[in-house]
Amino acid sequence: MINQRRADGTLRHLTTLEGLRRDEIEGLLQRAGAYVCAPGKLPPQNQNLAGFTIGNLFTEPSTRTRVSFELAGRRLGADVVNLEVQLSSQAKGETMLDTVHTLESLHFDVFVIRDSQPGVVAHVARNVMPHVSVLSAGEAHVSHPTQGLLDALTVRQFKGERFDRLTIAIVGDIRHSRVARSAYEVFTGLGVGELRLIAPPGLMPPEGEFPNGQRFTSPEAGLPGADVVMMLRIQKERMAAADIPDGDDYFARYGLTPDRLKLAKPDAIVMHPQPMNRGIEIDSSVADGPQSVIRTQVSNGVAVRMAVLEAVALSGSRSK
Ligand code: CP
Repeated sequence: MINQRRADGTLRHLTTLEGLRRDEIEGLLQRAGAYVCAPGKLPPQNQNLAGFTIGNLFTEPSTRTRVSFELAGRRLGADVVNLEVQLSSQAKGETMLDTVHTLESLHFDVFVIRDSQPGVVAHVARNVMPHVSVLSAGEAHVSHPTQGLLDALTVRQFKGERFDRLTIAIVGDIRHSRVARSAYEVFTGLGVGELRLIAPPGLMPPEGEFPNGQRFTSPEAGLPGADVVMMLRIQKERMAAADIPDGDDYFARYGLTPDRLKLAKPDAIVMHPQPMNRGIEIDSSVADGPQSVIRTQVSNGVAVRMAVLEAVALSGSRSK
């Protein structure tokens, strides 16, 4: 793990939520809360990052993370450049770090990186200029820190700040999920009462990971009493073809149907980071139903990313 802080202790990079103190997580959520905006209202905007340049470098597909980082930067007054990596010189063999060094010469201050290879984001963070910050927008199966923060913000909005009173169930392909790993970091960081991992044996994370998580191999065993049900997509892109479960069989045993949801508390909320596979991990009537907070998660993504961009950029030596 890299040192994400500057010498004065302020946050410079965000490549993982591991090691963040509870007061730092709560500070980011507090700040993000000020940027939350109800649908139909004009979103908050300011010029706090005017003069800063942010580069979005995504080598894996993304809708939510990329668009919300772009909106977050623009709503803070920054210049935002989305590099089309497939059209960049990386297609000719240039490394991510060489791309970043090139953009540093063009006065970029913050890099937002999504990459399928573990370690690339940290490697870049270790090798950028001292005033530059690096944010993970999703690293392989390893971490997705801003997703973890937006998930925590969403839980807080619907269930309050007392995470110690909550039982949170994460269901599905936990083994290959960066979302689950960052959710684990943020929920345990906030003192969650009970964290349950529900997955078929082949999709459970290796022993030793998620040490405070209780493991269940069926929703019928793991869902009763849950306040929050977080569903995950099967990450086919991180599996050998032979290991990909049959969709119908998986839905029959693990899919969140209205009847299965009744096993959780009556006021349980349903989360999903998206993209969703309707009819595989979640029934459409649940995804679009009254207990679903999936669209709120997406909205909160912009607020959280505004808070994170401000935190890393404004505490640095290039601040105004
Ligand atoms: N939740 C999430 O990371 O979505 P995208 O892949 O669309 O960014």
